[in-house]
Amino acid sequence: MKYDASVEIDIVKATSSKIDSVDFENLKFGHIFTDHMMSCDYEDGEWKTPSIKPYGPISLEPSAKVFHYGQAVFEGMKAYKDEEDKIWLFRPDENLKRINRSSERMAIPAFPAEYFYPALEELLKLEKNWIKKGFGNSLYIRPFVIATEAGVLASPGSRYKFMIICSPAKSYYTGKVRVKFSEKYSRAADGGVGFAKAAGNYGAQFFPTNLAKEEGFQQIIWTDANSHEFLEEAGTMNIFFRINDTLVTAPISDRILDGVTRKSILSLAEENNVSAEVRRVPVKEIIAAAKDGSLKEIFGTGTAAVINPIQGFGHQGETFELPNIEDSYAKLFKDKLMKIQYNLEEDPFGWRYLVKE
Ligand code: COI
Repeated sequence: MKYDASVEIDIVKATSSKIDSVDFENLKFGHIFTDHMMSCDYEDGEWKTPSIKPYGPISLEPSAKVFHYGQAVFEGMKAYKDEEDKIWLFRPDENLKRINRSSERMAIPAFPAEYFYPALEELLKLEKNWIKKGFGNSLYIRPFVIATEAGVLASPGSRYKFMIICSPAKSYYTGKVRVKFSEKYSRAADGGVGFAKAAGNYGAQFFPTNLAKEEGFQQIIWTDANSHEFLEEAGTMNIFFRINDTLVTAPISDRILDGVTRKSILSLAEENNVSAEVRRVPVKEIIAAAKDGSLKEIFGTGTAAVINPIQGFGHQGETFELPNIEDSYAKLFKDKLMKIQYNLEEDPFGWRYLVKE
């Protein structure tokens, strides 16, 4: 079909839907995928016609470069439905910019905005019944790019596949989250790929996270690889500390993901006259604040996790519990952010993006 006279999208609709078999009240994050997926191939130096087709396996050569050299990047976005059945995205321009920044770092060609928006909107229109109304319900959108060229020469491929798959979602974490401050393993190095949503950044965290899980923690807060003295990010989330009434979070760098939720919280803090400091966060300062009672909260932010309070943390064999406070910033900002995302409140920042019917 022709989208806006310029972008052609090939659409093949699924002949039946899985939707009736899905228990939308008890969703495990990222487990069930909708009926369709978007796919677009890069060949001969250009992105070809995007297509939307029934969700299903794809076929790749065993020698495809993604399997050998990890040339793969991804994004996380969400779509929300308001009370009038309108579908909204949240700051999709940030996701497109970021996937292209990640791609550049991994020597993958950029994906054009002229293809991204129409293809994503067509996909969401087809999947609109999968986006449930109600605070907390969303459709998690996973765009990704992989190197599909066959051959094990260690060099960038000349063929890629950009895809979008979607999964109905409620919360990412269930139950209380306790984190361990890392002392041994590192997530990212100076000049490395930590800022990119490169698939390997996530896979590399699984082993140390499993070790932390054996000790009763769900996640790791990564420290800088050089000294392990500064707290950086949680891997699936950026991380905020509240000391007395001030929020503190690490600055974006080539080691830290430029989180869309992170930067939205910083804007909301400014709008609500909550003081926020973007600076390096010494482990020592947080331990001292936990001991003297000035550490009021830690929370993680991310598209999948939204804003997730941290109940406690471990460091060098000691564990610390955080107090349960009435006027939690995590709660305040989660509520403010979600009301914008679900079109329940004004959007003074212009963050919401309406999916045109
Ligand atoms: C997201 O928040 O969308 C992410 O990409 C984190 C992911 C590993 C679930």
